[in-house]
Amino acid sequence: MIMMRAWRPAVRKTMTHHCSGAAPAQEDAMSSEPLLQVSGLSAGYGKIVVLRDIALSIGAGEAVALLGPNGAGKTTLLRAMSGLLPRSGQVRLGGQEMPNANPRATVAAGMAHVVEGHRVFTQLTCHDNLLLAGYGVPGAVRARQVDEALAFFPEIAAKRNDKAVTLSGGQQQMLAVAQGLVGKPRLLMLDEPSAGLSPVLVDRVLAAITQLRASGTAVLLVEQLIEKALAVVDRVYALARGSIVLEARADEADLPNRLERAYFGEGAHAPLDA
Ligand SMILES: Nc1ncnc2c1ncn2[C@@H]1O[C@H](COP(=O)(O)OP(=O)(O)O)[C@@H](O)[C@H]1O
Ligand SMILES: [Mg+2]
Repeated sequence: MIMMRAWRPAVRKTMTHHCSGAAPAQEDAMSSEPLLQVSGLSAGYGKIVVLRDIALSIGAGEAVALLGPNGAGKTTLLRAMSGLLPRSGQVRLGGQEMPNANPRATVAAGMAHVVEGHRVFTQLTCHDNLLLAGYGVPGAVRARQVDEALAFFPEIAAKRNDKAVTLSGGQQQMLAVAQGLVGKPRLLMLDEPSAGLSPVLVDRVLAAITQLRASGTAVLLVEQLIEKALAVVDRVYALARGSIVLEARADEADLPNRLERAYFGEGAHAPLDA
């Protein structure tokens, strides 16, 4: 049986935070706690428990992939973290406990979630889609933050005054990612941004992750295309049957084979119907 090793020991009890007076960026650097710290997270739909006792962490500016077969619970985990779904357990960002089931407050605290399937308003211009995504940002800085989000995607910037309906699927996905960036998140979570795109477009969308990482924004990427994901992230977690079954650096040898074995049961650390 393959033993699981968390990147850092999971924090199960509430930690005292020592630099609550510091500005967020400073706080990330000063704190010994990773930017994101999830522990003991469980969630599901009604009486159906999908996720059990999830623990994971992401450092400031780190890119991490969340991999796993269909139905493993990847989307459910993102939704539970971003407040779209109630959960039990802790989600801490920059040492601050994220509210449960409060997506607005979670976005305001710096966690952005680009949901599955590029959701853009096709009858609005690209620019208006981005202004709308920045509804929580004060008017004076919103226009500047829209420009900064557009800077990641020059081909969308060139079409900023065109309706989103005129964009290709890949361009709509870029616009959806840009929407997530308008609020200047500390952690951007992307749910299968490559779904339905051609390989060339996938590369263009995923290239933004490399850029984001360089700019200090942490990324959690849910992706089906393992090789493509491994090329742009620092670390991976694999989720199977509602539990984290593997954690590894993206450059570890034999990772695709280990992932496949983890998906199909070997190394799973909790039996399915415990
Ligand atoms: N709205 C829902 N109501 C009930 N069960 C759901 C709902 N959404 C997802 N599930 C179930 O939760 C499990 C995990 O789904 P999901 O998080 O979408 O997996 P993934 O994103 O890894 O493909 C699946 O068994 C799925 O059928
Ligand atoms: Mg999903």
